[in-house]
Amino acid sequence: MADDDALLFAEEDDPATQVVRSKEKFSKPWKVMIVDDEPEVHTITRLALSGFRFEDRDLEFLSAYSGEKAKALLAEHPDTALVFLDVVMETENAGLDVVRHVRNTLGNTMTRIILRTGQPGQAPERQVILEYDINDYKTKTEFTSRKLFTSVVAGLRAYADLEIIEQNRNGLEQIISASASIFKVQSMERFVQGVLTQLVSLLKLSSNAFCCGSGRFARDNGADRLRILAGIGGYTDYSGRLIEEALPQNILDDIHAATASGKDIFADDHIVLFFLSGGGAGNVIYVDGTRDLSVFDKDLLRIFCSNVAIAFDNITLATELERTQKEVVERIGALAETRSEETGNHVRRVAEYCYMLARAAGLDENEAQTLKEAAPMHDIGKVGIPDSILNKPEKLTREEFEVMKDHSSIGRRLLSGSSSRLLDVSAIIAHEHHERYDGKGYPRGLKGKEINIFGRITAIADVFDALGSPRCYKPEWSIDEVFAYMEEQRGKQFDPDLIDLFLARKEEIMEIRESFKDHPATRGELEN
Ligand code: C2E
Ligand code: SIN
Ligand code: SIN
Ligand code: SIN
Ligand code: FE
Ligand code: FE
Repeated sequence: MADDDALLFAEEDDPATQVVRSKEKFSKPWKVMIVDDEPEVHTITRLALSGFRFEDRDLEFLSAYSGEKAKALLAEHPDTALVFLDVVMETENAGLDVVRHVRNTLGNTMTRIILRTGQPGQAPERQVILEYDINDYKTKTEFTSRKLFTSVVAGLRAYADLEIIEQNRNGLEQIISASASIFKVQSMERFVQGVLTQLVSLLKLSSNAFCCGSGRFARDNGADRLRILAGIGGYTDYSGRLIEEALPQNILDDIHAATASGKDIFADDHIVLFFLSGGGAGNVIYVDGTRDLSVFDKDLLRIFCSNVAIAFDNITLATELERTQKEVVERIGALAETRSEETGNHVRRVAEYCYMLARAAGLDENEAQTLKEAAPMHDIGKVGIPDSILNKPEKLTREEFEVMKDHSSIGRRLLSGSSSRLLDVSAIIAHEHHERYDGKGYPRGLKGKEINIFGRITAIADVFDALGSPRCYKPEWSIDEVFAYMEEQRGKQFDPDLIDLFLARKEEIMEIRESFKDHPATRGELEN
């Protein structure tokens, strides 16, 4: 299966993907909304940002001159990336009402919001900043064009990260539900039909599609003759037929082009996806009538193809699909690492310490293993924190730390609500890894055993490793200082029972530290 794994996560510029793209999707501008009752603010902001591009995409400005207008405009443009929002407009709190409306009523958690207040003294309620995921807040006087630029970059980057995570999460959910059905359906044909159905509905493609192959499920006398394995829509009745006998010449030409080159074809009115299954057999998925596909859509298509390939190989499906999930989770975790300047080995060591403590605390192998796989996600919410705060090379101000603390709730929101146990546990860890045993932690101030055991374990592992590692804001501590701190916080920051178990295993801890050392040359590199 090693070959198929590679195919699962083909990069967007994978040579195996030949793209006949139309420009529109790729030059889609970032929507930036200016909400202010002073027309001058709109003029100045537009002027200061004119010609600005981020990741090869222009800005498209939207303007609203009151809170009520802003609500309507945001409902109309849920894909707004960034909002500059005045606080005082038709009422003292019009801007804050907009924030609540966006997050609560519209359920929009993606759009990044930058509050702007007229007078320095008139700060927005702290509660609103914390609860409603405000990206940044500035007084208008400090909005020089350089600062504006920095804010826009930070905001758009955070939005782009959230978008990628959201796409991955949707794909993951689709895979999970598709794989659940594998165990129920009897025949390969129905499985393939199910996958095609999900594929076209997820990507909003036409429902005329089929899959053909020459593998053992389509075995014929001639080794390379392709048969239709299953179809949907107009191709429903084509199942089992040789392609030469069933399909018109133009489609045959495309199929042959794809199998000969091993490349996908994304044409204006159809898609041809090529993939290999066990023993090197070539397979093709053909979908009629397409729309513009983003790189994420294409990633999803690859994932679906892999799913079919796995089923074709008919090996231990449960194991393989679980691995697929784990890889997606690792990919999401890696994304978080690229934002903060922590090393890949930090999350790996944290995972190992977590596993060690979980076993020591009596959790069974399965639970400990799940914790180990989920632990790398504990700081995923940092993708929602502005760079200026996340990578600030010195101590954070109180206000900045308040924003930083949001990473636990952002993490929970990103990971919760799926049917996967692994993601559920990841959500708990993201949410609770900064709670303290004495109740003085965040975000909820949970106390003692109110904190999930996974959260209590991860807190110990995370802090132990953070203290012993250099950070952009502090040098590393000596190992003796670190152990002294851990011991001192017994029953305060940390669960006393778990700390005892931890401190009784110094030798094992040092071994983990040694085997996953940070090497300066690999800092910040993505692990693959
Ligand atoms: P992190 O760097 O991964 O640190 C995780 C946790 O390790 C911290 O959670 C804290 O409990 C512990 N820790 C790390 N360094 C120290 C230290 O020097 N002294 C003590 N007593 N504990 C330490 P915390 O405090 O909730 O911070 C969460 C995250 O916020 C940190 O994750 C880091 O990304 C960021 N952060 C915290 N303080 C600063 C700062 O002064 N500057 C910057 N740039 N980031 C900070
Ligand atoms: C306030 O409204 O209390 C100021 C906001 C803050 O403390 O961050
Ligand atoms: C959560 O923290 O989101 C869930 C709490 C739990 O399951 O213990
Ligand atoms: C558990 O094993 O999940 C409960 C143990 C604890 O909360 O300490
Ligand atoms: Fe954290
Ligand atoms: Fe961490």
